[in-house]
Amino acid sequence: MDTLSRRCVWVNGPVIVGAGPSGLAVAAGLKEQGVPFIILERADCIASLWQNRTYDRLKLHLPKQFCQLPNFPFPDHYPEYPSKKQFVEYLETYTRHYHINPHFNESVESAKYDDTWRMWRVKTEAVEYICQWLVVATGENAEPVLPEIDGLKDFAGEVVHAQDYKSGEKFKGKKVLVVGCGNSGMELSLDLCNHDAKPAMVVRSAVHVLPREIYGKSTFQVAMFLLKWLPMWLVDKILLFLAWTILGNMEKFGLQRPKIGPLELKNYGRTPVLDIGALEKIRSKEIQVVGGVKRFWCGAVELTDGERLEIDAVVLSTGYKSNVPYWLQESEFFGKNGFPKTPFPNGWKGNAGLYAAGFTRRGLSGLSADAVKISQDIAKVWKDDLKQKKQKVPTHRRCISTF
Ligand SMILES: Cc1cc2nc3c(=O)[nH]c(=O)nc-3n(C[C@H](O)[C@H](O)[C@H](O)COP(=O)(O)OP(=O)(O)OC[C@H]3O[C@@H](n4cnc5c(N)ncnc54)[C@H](O)[C@@H]3O)c2cc1C
Ligand SMILES: NC(=O)c1ccc[n+]([C@@H]2O[C@H](COP(=O)([O-])OP(=O)(O)OC[C@H]3O[C@@H](n4cnc5c(N)ncnc54)[C@H](OP(=O)(O)O)[C@@H]3O)[C@@H](O)[C@H]2O)c1
Repeated sequence: MDTLSRRCVWVNGPVIVGAGPSGLAVAAGLKEQGVPFIILERADCIASLWQNRTYDRLKLHLPKQFCQLPNFPFPDHYPEYPSKKQFVEYLETYTRHYHINPHFNESVESAKYDDTWRMWRVKTEAVEYICQWLVVATGENAEPVLPEIDGLKDFAGEVVHAQDYKSGEKFKGKKVLVVGCGNSGMELSLDLCNHDAKPAMVVRSAVHVLPREIYGKSTFQVAMFLLKWLPMWLVDKILLFLAWTILGNMEKFGLQRPKIGPLELKNYGRTPVLDIGALEKIRSKEIQVVGGVKRFWCGAVELTDGERLEIDAVVLSTGYKSNVPYWLQESEFFGKNGFPKTPFPNGWKGNAGLYAAGFTRRGLSGLSADAVKISQDIAKVWKDDLKQKKQKVPTHRRCISTF
């Protein structure tokens, strides 16, 4: 659709793109300060990653107090690690509590700063929104990473990405190759085992696996406590020592540790795996660990070490990527990988009213910190503007005011 046929809507306040936890948390912060906004969501529901693109057995992998959105604790009766269903219910209550009404089924196709108007022009299929502030909240996991591996297109069995995997039930009795050993790969391999499938997990590089809990305390909590007093490199060493006392040496099972420690590695975008049972299955050989994939054949895979495995299905647990480069026409603040170029904690604010929420590689705790800063920053300017002048609607632009 060309620009002339789009309806033009003037937004008195920011446009937030994405109604996942980040977009909702920014919206709630703005509501609390009386700033109007609109929130555009490509799916037909809030938190579509959690509702539509995750597997059934998923739980939050950090204790609930580290996952709550600003000023909104989880209910007391929730367990320490809420299930996906409970997390979605929590987000729905949050959305109702703050009277947030996203525009569903509105996918942002492009957004560009107009130097002449000094405004952002945000286009969906049918509407062009004009606004002073643009909050990018489309997530670190907006699209699946689908690697091109020789022969994969000709593989005869089912090939599914982790985002479409719900449960191992339908793989009962089947030999399944799980490509990738991040949190998804490990947990889907475990789920396959629990459903009497036979998973082989591809581990092509070193990976940090930590127990989810260290002697009854969450590993994350222990790390946060130690970081108050000690440098990161030392905390990494302590964590690895404690992990070794619990998990033992995993190298003999094909899991090498990276040279850089687990916390430091997060700065390079790599999340450690928090083990919730996959290691036990690796030790008992119920999950077979294999090396990299060379190519697929009709009903088999050839590995880089020359070994050939007969397989019935493939689960690509190969991760996710940001979709920002596909729609945001801006290259100063966001890098080619769709993440802000400036690392946490300074990657939330760009130029000309551009903001990024939820690109900290620190999950829910990182996005909450972003949301507080963004909503306060916008509210300050918005209130100052309001004091100075009455909001004017430029009639010569033939736009409809939303407020
Ligand atoms: C399997 C899995 C498990 C996870 N578990 C945890 C966990 O336990 N703890 C934790 O802290 N983090 C976890 N994460 C990380 C996860 O990224 C965060 O929990 C959280 O969902 C991030 O919120 P977000 O709003 O930034 O992104 P998302 O939840 O991805 O929300 C972004 C929203 O933007 C919408 N959108 C995207 N593009 C457009 C567009 N062009 N136009 C309009 N709308 C658009 C999407 O539809 C989506 O609803 C997990 C991630 C995955 C994949
Ligand atoms: N709450 C939970 O319990 C939970 C569960 C799942 C996911 N998550 C979160 O969701 C996010 C995404 O996790 P994820 O596990 O889906 O992705 P990820 O952490 O990015 O891991 C992707 C894995 O795929 C491998 N890979 C990619 N391409 C490959 C190829 N061509 N051949 C072989 N291996 C390949 C990677 O190996 P290399 O390292 O060699 O690139 C890596 O092991 C993370 O933040 C994670 O913490 C949380």
